[in-house]
Amino acid sequence: MAVLILFATIEGQTAKIARFIETELQGAGCDATLVDASDKMAKVTFDGFDTVILAAPVHERRHPASFELLLTASRADLAARRTMMISVSLGAAFTTLKEEAREYLVEMKLRTGLEPDAELLVAGAVRPSSYGYYETQILRHAILRDQTIDPRTQEREFTDWDELAAAVKGFAGVDA
Ligand SMILES: Cc1cc2nc3c(=O)[nH]c(=O)nc-3n(C[C@H](O)[C@H](O)[C@H](O)COP(=O)(O)O)c2cc1C
Repeated sequence: MAVLILFATIEGQTAKIARFIETELQGAGCDATLVDASDKMAKVTFDGFDTVILAAPVHERRHPASFELLLTASRADLAARRTMMISVSLGAAFTTLKEEAREYLVEMKLRTGLEPDAELLVAGAVRPSSYGYYETQILRHAILRDQTIDPRTQEREFTDWDELAAAVKGFAGVDA
């Protein structure tokens, strides 16, 4: 089975997640191809793929505008294939924020017309070393305001790799 993994990333966690999916699917015998949609030089083609896994992070309540634009422009190509949408956020890591995380995805689907066959909310990471003052303030005073983690100092990865592996293999129809 030929699977296209099309992703966008800002600080790198979604790229790490996409590479992990590629490794897992290849290990299970799939022909998986990784394309970074955040790379302006990347050539995106859906030809030859019957299955597409999309992955993008949430920043300030939405997925990257360029990724949404790509989904909108590729609506017909995506509708003709089996698709899974993976939304990466910190909201997905906390019970109290999970509903909010779900809303980011609902809003993205409304804006782009994407109707995925499967969707998954995946918890991202806190990476103080890649934040400037502005990013730290947003995380501290908005997203993580009720959490004990301090985005100025605490590096933390919330992604559940086992759950992710099982979900993508289940979607691709290969052994978990
Ligand atoms: C400036 C900034 C804004 C963010 N906004 C949100 C948000 O609105 N909701 C949320 O759940 N997570 C938010 N996050 C957390 C990211 O979704 C999380 O860190 C994710 O791992 C980033 O993925 P990436 O490394 O692929 O860009 C934000 C992170 C940063 C740095």
